[in-house]
Amino acid sequence: NRVVLAYSGGLDTSVILKWLQQTYNCEVVTFTADLGQGEELEPARKKAEMAGVKPEHIFIEDVREEFVKDYVFPMMRANALYEGLYLLGTSIARPLIAKRQIEIARQVGADAVSHGATGKGNDQVRFELGYYALNPDIKVIAPWREWDLTSRTKLIEFAESHQIPVTKDKRGESPFSTDANLLHTSSEGKVLEDPWEEVPDYVYSRTVNPEDAPDTPETITIDFERGDGVALNGQAMSPATLLTALNELGRKHGIGRLDLVENRFVGMKSRGMYETPGGTIYHLAHRGIEQITLDRGAAHLKDELAPRYAELIYNGFWFSPEREMLQAAVDYSQEKVTGTVRLKLYKGSVIVTGRKSPYTLYSEKVVTFEDDQGAYDQRDAAGFIKLNALRLRLLGRRGG
Ligand code: ARG
Ligand code: SIN
Repeated sequence: NRVVLAYSGGLDTSVILKWLQQTYNCEVVTFTADLGQGEELEPARKKAEMAGVKPEHIFIEDVREEFVKDYVFPMMRANALYEGLYLLGTSIARPLIAKRQIEIARQVGADAVSHGATGKGNDQVRFELGYYALNPDIKVIAPWREWDLTSRTKLIEFAESHQIPVTKDKRGESPFSTDANLLHTSSEGKVLEDPWEEVPDYVYSRTVNPEDAPDTPETITIDFERGDGVALNGQAMSPATLLTALNELGRKHGIGRLDLVENRFVGMKSRGMYETPGGTIYHLAHRGIEQITLDRGAAHLKDELAPRYAELIYNGFWFSPEREMLQAAVDYSQEKVTGTVRLKLYKGSVIVTGRKSPYTLYSEKVVTFEDDQGAYDQRDAAGFIKLNALRLRLLGRRGG
């Protein structure tokens, strides 16, 4: 029997790899995805080989374009934010990893899949809902819920007794659990567990402190076509290239830091720190272009649906009919979300300073406070207000 493991090459999944081989006496197939986490992936191949994984069972893939094009951008079209603030950087990557694991399982004839998420969090739910949605009969092995390595110390002991290298910073000092990809880096645990304690500087890894960011603002433009970013400063870019370039700008100007206490799907509150530099710029730019291209009714309906859509992604229901229904509605709304947004980046802030579109609904002629030459008849507003006021006046007359 074979099991496909989502393998980062880090300490936890290296221990899991060994543990699976021992406990289940099975052949482990590793899948390592380059999601833009900014780490060398070849060491993962070495480590897997050392652990006895057959070369043809080591899958290392660059999925950055697919990640941004088919997961991040569709989510951004919806302006999804969990609990009003979180741009869902980890949540949106899990379905893609789950999908590839199931595909690889099919390819190599494996009947099980495995991951390194703990039994306390959201990620286990996201991975496993993805697995079951794509293969109802798959076997799932979640080592963190099964083994007796109940502490970091025991995990490190296991690693050392099995010649798994333990890097210095993982030796108990490791202050947090992190997850990184092209959209964000998240950190949780240890020093962050007291929600009153300010996040120490060393936790941040991909943005400068806004206080140390350049004193001169930087102005950029992003072009959108049908709701998706297609160019930066007039230069056409693929989805992953665009997000990478925005990440660089966001890093430099200290954009996209978030310190949040959120509600996990399993019921507990957790405190995390997020850095979403490019995603924060992109999200605000997308709202900027929607301001002139979306009708009010469509825009407000989208705003009602967005929290629902965000919750589905957070809770792991990417592969669900309700997410697909919402996606269809969102995508339909983006038909004319085309044009250019200008933004100013300055010490942690992103300000939309201009927007234009061939499909703009903004009419200067109608809105102007100068002579509108009959574009709008102010007298129409009298009846509009009077009928809207009717119920308020009836209520007022009744009194109490
Ligand atoms: N709390 C965030 C979420 O649920 C981040 C999870 C981070 N995952 C991790 N394995 N460190 O999306
Ligand atoms: C984990 O539990 O593995 C990380 C945190 C989470 O998934 O919410």
